[in-house]
Amino acid sequence: MREWAISILGSDTLEGKLFTPDILTDQAPGPVMEWNEPTRPLELRFQKQKRKGKLPPFHTHHDPDSRAICLHRFAGHELLAVEIMAYALLKFPHAPSHFRKGLAHTLQEEQEHVRLYIKELKRLKVTFGDLPLYRHFWCHTPYLTSPLSYVSVMSLTFEMANLDFAPMYGHSFEKHGDREAASLMARILKDEIAHVSFGWRWLQKFKKKELSDWDTWKEGQSPLLTPKRARGFIIHEEHRKKAGVSSEWIENLKSL
Ligand SMILES: [Fe+2]
Ligand SMILES: [Fe+2]
Repeated sequence: MREWAISILGSDTLEGKLFTPDILTDQAPGPVMEWNEPTRPLELRFQKQKRKGKLPPFHTHHDPDSRAICLHRFAGHELLAVEIMAYALLKFPHAPSHFRKGLAHTLQEEQEHVRLYIKELKRLKVTFGDLPLYRHFWCHTPYLTSPLSYVSVMSLTFEMANLDFAPMYGHSFEKHGDREAASLMARILKDEIAHVSFGWRWLQKFKKKELSDWDTWKEGQSPLLTPKRARGFIIHEEHRKKAGVSSEWIENLKSL
């Protein structure tokens, strides 16, 4: 796993970032390793400009270019998820082996998500890297100081927010006649529920007894994020319930 994570972060080809060996073992997790910035192929480098442009509004989704811009951004998020999960494998060699195994499994699903988005982009005549890519989630890596903060930031904030955003975009793509893009969003949602569930289960294991789930999550949070980042405009309670998130926690999120 260590070698695999290093090869993902250090690769300057997309194939290298999406590669998984047939057999993965974790016998030599090695010392803690921190990675400043992932190596990337030229066309997938982070855009210098810090502010990312807004996504095209929903009413423009009848235009294939508008949908492609959205899908390109989402593909960028998936690649970042791949790299951040590789980062976590290197940063937390002493984490429980079951945690690392779950993380490695999730990473492979993120690699598949990148491939699936690229396929949809191709259908819409866009190549991954044609549009700008941003640093986005990567800015939070200095704050991923423990497996608990990893699950708080990745699984229970960014991936959790996708339980609202994926169905929202899926619905809009469907409404504008793009069934393929809509069914990809449904697939992403299904996997994302499992990824949130992974984070939720490990939050329970890592937390101190005297702290609530909610306070534990807030303590593990990146200082660059507000709790609101864990939700969309409309909260899809049912997807969080499927992931095992408690009603109390959902109520807290709704009150933000
Ligand atoms: Fe994903
Ligand atoms: Fe995910």
